[in-house]
Amino acid sequence: MALGPIIRSMFGRHEAAVANLYRSIFIDLDAYIAQVVKWVPAPRRILEVGAGEGAVTERLARAFPLAEIVAIDITPRVGRLYKGRQERVTFLQKTVQDMAVEQPGGFDFVILSDVIHHVPTALRSAIIAALRGCLASDGLLVFKDWAEDRTVIHWLCKTSDVYLTGDDVSYLDAPKLEALIETGFGAKTIVDRATIAPWRNNFAMLVRG
Ligand SMILES: C[S@@+](CC[C@H](N)C(=O)[O-])C[C@H]1O[C@@H](n2cnc3c(N)ncnc32)[C@H](O)[C@@H]1O
Repeated sequence: MALGPIIRSMFGRHEAAVANLYRSIFIDLDAYIAQVVKWVPAPRRILEVGAGEGAVTERLARAFPLAEIVAIDITPRVGRLYKGRQERVTFLQKTVQDMAVEQPGGFDFVILSDVIHHVPTALRSAIIAALRGCLASDGLLVFKDWAEDRTVIHWLCKTSDVYLTGDDVSYLDAPKLEALIETGFGAKTIVDRATIAPWRNNFAMLVRG
C-alpha cells in the first residue's frame, strides 16, 4: 500500500512545502534546472514526461517563460501541486506512447526526471522509443534518474520510494542507464552527462534525438 498520499494529506495546506523539503534531501531541483538551462538554453516546445505533481514543471515554466510546456503523467494527480504560470502550460493524463502517436516529432525538448525506476522493466524500451518519437529531428532529451549504488543514501531513497509510492521500484546504475538510452536512441547520442547536487546518484544525460 502507498503511504505517501495518506501522510501528505496530514499536512493540509502545507503539503507542497513539506513535499519540497522532503525532495531536497535527495536532489537540489534548482541545481538540476540550472544544468538543464545550460544544456538547452532556449527550447520552444517542451514535453515533460512523468511530470508528477509539477515540481519540475514549475521550475521549467520559470526558467523558460516563453516556451510552451506540455506535462504528462499516467497519474490523475498530474500537476496537482503546480503553482506556476498557467498560460502555455498544459497538464494531461496521458502515456508518452500515446503522445508519440498523436504528436510525432512535436517537441524540440523532452525531459524525463526520476521516472524510469518506477516503470516496469518490460515497459522501459517502449517508453524510450516513445520519447524519441516525440522529439523533433534536431531535438534534445534530458534524461535524469537516481542511479543505483551501494551507499546509505541509495538505500534510504529506495526504502522511502517503496513505502511512500507503493510502486515496485527498480533502479539501474549509471552504465545501465546509458545502455538503456543507447538501445533506443543509438550509439554516441549521449552528448553530455552530469551529476546533480547533493548526491552523485542524481545522474542526468543530454541526448541528441
Ligand atoms: C518520483 S515521481 C517524479 C515526478 C516528476 N518527474 C518530478 O521529478 O517531480 C515519478 C513519476 O513517474 C510516473 N510514472 C510511473 N510510471 C510511468 C509511466 N509508465 N509513464 C509515465 N509516467 C510514469 C509516476 O506517476 C510519478 O508521477
